[in-house]
Amino acid sequence: MTTYPLRLAMVGGGPGAFIGAVHRTAALMDGAFTLVAGALSSDHKKCQERAAEWGIAPDRAYASWQEMLTAEQALPEDVRAQVVSIVTPNHLHHEVAIAALDAGFHVACDKPLTTNSENAEAIAKAAAKSTGLFLLTHNYTGAPMVREARELIAQGESGPIGTVRKVYVEYLQGWLAEDLEASGQKQAAWRTDPKRNGPGGSLGDIGTHAHNLAEFVTGQRITRLLGSRRSFVDGRAVDDDAMALLEFEGGADGMLRCSQVCVGRENGLSIQVFGTKGGVEWRQEHPNDLTIYSADEGPVTRRTGNGYLSALAQSSARVPAGHPEGYLESFGNLYLEFADAIRTGGPMPDHLPSIEAGIRGVQFIEQVIASDDAGNAWA
Ligand SMILES: NC(=O)c1ccc[n+]([C@@H]2O[C@H](COP(=O)([O-])OP(=O)(O)OC[C@H]3O[C@@H](n4cnc5c(N)ncnc54)[C@H](O)[C@@H]3O)[C@@H](O)[C@H]2O)c1
Repeated sequence: MTTYPLRLAMVGGGPGAFIGAVHRTAALMDGAFTLVAGALSSDHKKCQERAAEWGIAPDRAYASWQEMLTAEQALPEDVRAQVVSIVTPNHLHHEVAIAALDAGFHVACDKPLTTNSENAEAIAKAAAKSTGLFLLTHNYTGAPMVREARELIAQGESGPIGTVRKVYVEYLQGWLAEDLEASGQKQAAWRTDPKRNGPGGSLGDIGTHAHNLAEFVTGQRITRLLGSRRSFVDGRAVDDDAMALLEFEGGADGMLRCSQVCVGRENGLSIQVFGTKGGVEWRQEHPNDLTIYSADEGPVTRRTGNGYLSALAQSSARVPAGHPEGYLESFGNLYLEFADAIRTGGPMPDHLPSIEAGIRGVQFIEQVIASDDAGNAWA
């Protein structure tokens, strides 16, 4: 059996980057990983600078991800990295993922999986052939109360929600309400460039989170949608706002909204699911609360860290009730459970997002675009 800590290498996450530091914190949080190598930036100097801050040995701060994979593979088995985490802009995910999987590394990649279905299928093929496991870091699936919602809904008619009828999911932000990319702001610049981001702007960046949350919580796939997208900011090459009507395989329907032009909104991701007996509501800006609706009792709040929660929700919390846990810990849960699957030789638990969730996310972006292009036809 592989022992902890697992040796992690990172691609992306250089100075000023957003999610690389989140992945590092999450992976190291439980002692299951140690960060040993990186191709942290396309600029070698910046990579070296960040590597020094993060305690990566200078000779393992590589000039490119290609060099990193080759050099790490050549190291003795008990020294080389075992897992590669991919935290670059979207257009690089597939090349790095395929090369890493082909070389036998385990891969943790952020969403969206990639920029089109063809690339997504190619990653899936590489993963199927590889001895490496693949994790897609749809982090909200690691939140204890999201997992609680999923567990309650999975009980079907014998549970408090019953059979699912309606799903309302939204992710509202305001940070792209103006032409921020014109200022050179790095995160806005690549996210509004279809070459580096892919064709779906708000759709890829936050719509995929909403889509994944809806499928994860209900345990059902969306079978059809009717989509609409807009760019409110003049000259922007990708959507900054989108909506979709949804149909689910179990007969439910619903609505998804994602927007980056809702002035003043931060990370307003929320989901409400209503069934034949009751409903659930979760808001990521208050992640420790799950509201349960019923006809008899009115709204009741379940909270992280309590013994009345499902086993999965309980095991997903680190501290006693009343001490807030959130974004970082939800990533931490994914990394810890991924590490456990690697350590024990797999497979990954069903609730961990993998290639399948990644393909679904890319298809969602393409479906909304196809529906919008066809004059809002069902796709
Ligand atoms: N799950 C989430 O909540 C979440 C949140 C934010 C971003 N993301 C995803 O994470 C990824 C990165 O987003 P971000 O906001 O951190 O972007 P960012 O622009 O802040 O960081 C990207 C990093 O990749 C580096 N990079 C670019 N080209 C490279 C190359 N060839 N080799 C090595 N490094 C290279 C950049 O130098 C930078 O350090 C995206 O796929 C995004 O969708 C996910």
